[in-house]
Amino acid sequence: MSLASIRSGERFLADAEATAAFGRELAVALREQRGAVIHLRGTLGAGKTTLARELLRALGVTGTIRSPTYTLMEPYELPDRRVLHMDLYRIEASDLDQLGLDDYPPEETLWLVEWPEKGGAGVPRADLDLLLEPAGEGRKLQISTRSPPASGNSPDFT
Ligand SMILES: Nc1ncnc2c1ncn2[C@@H]1O[C@H](COP(=O)(O)OP(=O)(O)OP(=O)(O)O)[C@@H](O)[C@H]1O
Ligand SMILES: [Mg+2]
Repeated sequence: MSLASIRSGERFLADAEATAAFGRELAVALREQRGAVIHLRGTLGAGKTTLARELLRALGVTGTIRSPTYTLMEPYELPDRRVLHMDLYRIEASDLDQLGLDDYPPEETLWLVEWPEKGGAGVPRADLDLLLEPAGEGRKLQISTRSPPASGNSPDFT
């Protein structure tokens, strides 16, 4: 399985458990795909960290999973891959260069980036873009996937 198994479109996540369940679904999709860039967008408190935390847990991260709110990035070394969880809400554009991101090539690293728009051009392009928006008591999730560049065509969101 790969991210190709995730369909673009809209879903309703009724509660935090539904957000977590989608995180677990992503972990299954990523079982045979080590590297990917996932953008997690949405307002403060939309559920980005909830989703990332459950995905990390399902990929095998043990122990405390801290929100990268202040540290900007939390790297994880798993037996099969490297994962980078970022929250760029507080980043100054110039700081991105100092995070040592060259050590995390997107082909071999799973990037989970909250507030990717704050990082500007220094943030790699999304293979999967997730937008969470408040909807009543729950959240609306907008999923946009990009076909892999292997197709030879210029990659487009579908
Ligand atoms: N689908 C949902 N329906 C209702 N509440 C949810 C849903 N998903 C997550 N939440 C709740 O939203 C709250 C905020 O979640 P979270 O910290 O993940 O937000 P965030 O998007 O990471 O915010 P920030 O931008 O501050 O990093 C949590 O209390 C979480 O339980
Ligand atoms: Mg967060």
